[in-house]
Amino acid sequence: MRNAIDLSVDVGGLRIRNPTMLASGILGISYEVFKRVYEAGIGAIVSKSISIDPREGYKNPTVLSVECGYLNAVGLSNPGMDAFSKEIANNSDIPIVVNLVGSTENEFVSMVKKFDHLNVIAYELNLSCPHVEKVGLEVGDDPELVHKIIRGTKSNTKKPVITKVGLGASDILDIARVSKEAGADGITAINTIRAMAINTETGIPFLSNRIGGLSGKAIKPIAIRCVYEISKEIHIPVIGCGGISTWEDAVEFMLAGASAVQIGSAIGNKWLKVFTNITRGISAYLEKKGMKNSMELVGIAHKY
Ligand SMILES: Cc1cc2nc3c(=O)[nH]c(=O)nc-3n(C[C@H](O)[C@H](O)[C@H](O)COP(=O)(O)O)c2cc1C
Repeated sequence: MRNAIDLSVDVGGLRIRNPTMLASGILGISYEVFKRVYEAGIGAIVSKSISIDPREGYKNPTVLSVECGYLNAVGLSNPGMDAFSKEIANNSDIPIVVNLVGSTENEFVSMVKKFDHLNVIAYELNLSCPHVEKVGLEVGDDPELVHKIIRGTKSNTKKPVITKVGLGASDILDIARVSKEAGADGITAINTIRAMAINTETGIPFLSNRIGGLSGKAIKPIAIRCVYEISKEIHIPVIGCGGISTWEDAVEFMLAGASAVQIGSAIGNKWLKVFTNITRGISAYLEKKGMKNSMELVGIAHKY
């Protein structure tokens, strides 16, 4: 019988119907949009980073298309935890992962307390945004603080807690190791990478914040390396992210050790069909290889 393929995956207790997830920050926080994305066949949806209080973010221009992807410095604009908890208050069946951003253990704990009674399936802690002061990478570069935040968050929820890491001053493997020791259930690797572009006519940097984060095709080989090393050396479930736009990209991340993948920039030109193309492609690949389950792909490259 054709299609006895099981696409579902488990990432540190986070169980989803297929390995595809919407990356944080790409389609905002509207529940109506989440519904449409889920109906398009995605495994799970990660919200834009949510902070305790609303954040305005930076002035435009905040996003720039470059030859190898996108540069962005949005500034973590979001309506804050009260407004977002109202937005998703009536969720019954959409697998939403809430991405949280903050500077202290107390902030993360307060946010988890705010969301924990709602129908959300996990938390992703943004410890890796590369262009906003006092949050993101500045937190992720401080192993003691990372430990405290994860311990605090974990002791206030039974839901999986995933740490989102990136390329900062600390070794990504050290932050992954600390995350595991503190009880994180998984790691998302990677966030955007600090980068910039300058208008050669005027000499003015394109982004209002000057420095932003690079996403898309250019960062894929770096992200593959991070997923490979984290899963091989730290032995913690990994969600791969960075430059995925085809099913071949997704399979490559899984071979490197990712149990699921997040897609961000590719939505810019492929819109929601990117998810159906990826799940169909993974299914056909598994069938061709005589495999029955997505999880069989995870970490195959570690053998060589
Ligand atoms: C416009 C934009 C906004 C983003 N906002 C967030 C965010 O709020 N929180 C976060 O953790 N990552 C954010 N990211 C990073 C993405 O979730 C993802 O890690 C990164 O873009 C790499 O994946 P991609 O190459 O598929 O886009 C953002 C990326 C972009 C392009």
